Amino acid sequence: MKIAIIGSGYVGLTTGACFAEVGHEVLCVDNDQGKVKSLREGLVPFYEPGLEAMIARNVAAGRLRFGESIAEAVESSLALFIAVPTPPREDGSVDLHYVEKVAREIAGVLHEYRVVVDKSTVPVRTGEKVAQTIERYSKQKADFDVVSNPEFLREGSAISDLMNPDRIVIGASSERAIAIMKEIYQPFRTPVLITDVNSAELIKHASNSFLAVKISYINMISQICEASKADVLLVAEGMGLDRRIGRSFLQAGLGWGGSCFPKDVSAFIRIAEELGCDFRLLKEAASINRQQRERFLKKIREEIWLLRDKTIGLLGLAFKNNTDDTRQSVAMALAENFIQEGAVVRAYDPKAMAKAKQALPELHLCSRGEEVAQGADCVVVATEWEEFRELDWLSMKKRMVTPLVFDGRNLLDREKMAAWGFTYRGIGR
Ligand code: UDX
Repeated sequence: MKIAIIGSGYVGLTTGACFAEVGHEVLCVDNDQGKVKSLREGLVPFYEPGLEAMIARNVAAGRLRFGESIAEAVESSLALFIAVPTPPREDGSVDLHYVEKVAREIAGVLHEYRVVVDKSTVPVRTGEKVAQTIERYSKQKADFDVVSNPEFLREGSAISDLMNPDRIVIGASSERAIAIMKEIYQPFRTPVLITDVNSAELIKHASNSFLAVKISYINMISQICEASKADVLLVAEGMGLDRRIGRSFLQAGLGWGGSCFPKDVSAFIRIAEELGCDFRLLKEAASINRQQRERFLKKIREEIWLLRDKTIGLLGLAFKNNTDDTRQSVAMALAENFIQEGAVVRAYDPKAMAKAKQALPELHLCSRGEEVAQGADCVVVATEWEEFRELDWLSMKKRMVTPLVFDGRNLLDREKMAAWGFTYRGIGR
């Protein structure tokens, strides 16, 4: 099938690469000429395990190409996936102007039947607006369908999430569009749920918000564990063994960050509000998320008192492991707090250092994890990179002023750290 992806950001690029991988003929377009040029040279603008190789393989096989023109996309492809950004506005609502602009541009050149598929995360009823817009601006009154096909990939595991998804959701109202979408996803051999467009759009916001609530729930439990001398790791294990609950997304820590959860939770609160529903549960989850970072800072201050003139070794800058993305990263927010309070921050992250330095030039970057400990009053683990477990902690201890470790992700082995002579503080333990 000939497919065009409009918007070659995180979702667009990874989706396009995976469609090409299963044999479709894919054109990824973007209005950023520089990005298109780099992509044609084989350069991927962000780190995602396996993506660069997958793109190279499919470009070489002639199944994947890059361009700038929506007209070319509409001309060459039966299915047009919209994967443009839907950034948050100041008030938390979703800015849909990129989606609207793409809809108008498609309308301007549409001359025979196409399926317009929305992949971007959008408020419920956006599909209706996209259809109206195409109808209104269509010069040749060609036939089309608008479909919602939300994306559930996680950064850091995008390729495996896309190649082996738990489910594929297709929100469509015409048999013709459903048949085309089923053909596109046939190679993935995964359960496909067909719904109406509005329900598909809601599934995305409802799922992300549910996961955020789940994390906030265990983070609240971690606060109760600290107050009652229980261990949140054991509590999460006991809860997770119940198949109705499940163990995933019960990792207590510094709270959720990234380009999706904070934005989608705020958006869903607003969407509900506009529909006359007060989503207090979600507001509370967002508030617990903020508290979690505040409480962690308080814990550090209680232990080392003033941060002014102290040296803090910071392990992790990305919002989670296996990515170089620092958007809405709790690790970055902590670094900013430390610097504002007058501390020197010696930081290391396996992938996110370039992006972090751009956003926070005051960071002292280290070329190895062990080096953050040099002259440090404490070391803080802020991102769940597996490799931090394997650092040479004994040599780090020798470099530190005081052997104090705050593990914001419960990543390290508490017993081992204590045996090595560290004062170790985790979350909810
Ligand atoms: C999320 C959704 O998982 C994905 O389905 C959607 O398409 C986009 O948003 P992503 O933001 O890439 O994906 O990462 P995810 O792995 O969900 O983690 C989000 C945040 O929650 C990270 O800051 C992570 O550190 C935190 N987290 C996750 C926890 O604190 N505890 C957990 O148990 C899981």
